[in-house]
Amino acid sequence: MNKYEDTNRRFWDELTEVHIKSYGVLGFKSGKSTLDSIQLEEVCSVKGKSLLHLQCHFGLDTLSWAREGAIVTGVDFSEKSIKYANQLKEELNIDARFIYCSIFDLKSHLDKKFDIVYTSQGVLCWLKDLEEWAKIIYHFLKPGGIFYIMDGHPIIHTFDDLKKGELEIRYNYFHKKEPTKWDDGTPDYSDVSYITENPSYEWQWSLSDIINSLIKADLRIEFIHEFDKIFYKALTFMKQDEDGWWYLPDYRNKIPLMFTLKAFRS
Ligand SMILES: C[S@@+](CC[C@H](N)C(=O)[O-])C[C@H]1O[C@@H](n2cnc3c(N)ncnc32)[C@H](O)[C@@H]1O
Repeated sequence: MNKYEDTNRRFWDELTEVHIKSYGVLGFKSGKSTLDSIQLEEVCSVKGKSLLHLQCHFGLDTLSWAREGAIVTGVDFSEKSIKYANQLKEELNIDARFIYCSIFDLKSHLDKKFDIVYTSQGVLCWLKDLEEWAKIIYHFLKPGGIFYIMDGHPIIHTFDDLKKGELEIRYNYFHKKEPTKWDDGTPDYSDVSYITENPSYEWQWSLSDIINSLIKADLRIEFIHEFDKIFYKALTFMKQDEDGWWYLPDYRNKIPLMFTLKAFRS
């Protein structure tokens, strides 16, 4: 791992402790799924299918897919996340495999092909190389297998925040090789009372970077959908609807905040 990934790994180890308290683990233990209706509908039935979850954090979504009938493998480079994911699967007696490594090293840890490769909600900004990422997805898919992603729309990373309800563009939309360092004391997205001690590095990827990396890896895109709502409170003026999605009241239907994409290996 390079110095950026090493720093990010420490950042995610630190946050794992916080998220175990803020992610609704109790509800999950009592049977609640962490998967929303959009993902459940768009991924389609996973019953009996093998599913590889890239960047699974401590596995709530992975284990939720297992409850839907998938045979799941989750991968994350946070040792603490994987340790807790394993603890959860034992405690809840859910069949799952969790692998501790960077997705960029996965080929040396896993020798298997999958019906579904899945990744979601806050994943791409942590990746230094999307062309390599897309090749990894292709490698782990069986012919005919599907890839699915739900993530924040790249435009959302350009906004500073809202001033009197107005969006202000502060950061670049387009990719640059060097990541942006964050150590400005911004509260955690899941527990706003928590300020992380470790800095983090994020890469910006445009929508065309994402799509073209998949095309270049020979994946066939079935759809890309854009939404005016998102899965976390990305900006301070966001409001939450009755289904838990966050939206900008003054920008409904005006700008995208999230996308989903489905592709397959022919
Ligand atoms: C926002 S979380 C993933 C979203 C997940 N749905 C959740 O529970 O919030 C981002 C995850 O990516 C992981 N991650 C970042 N870079 C990685 C890499 N190169 N390889 C594997 N995991 C990585 C982090 O450890 C973290 O668990």
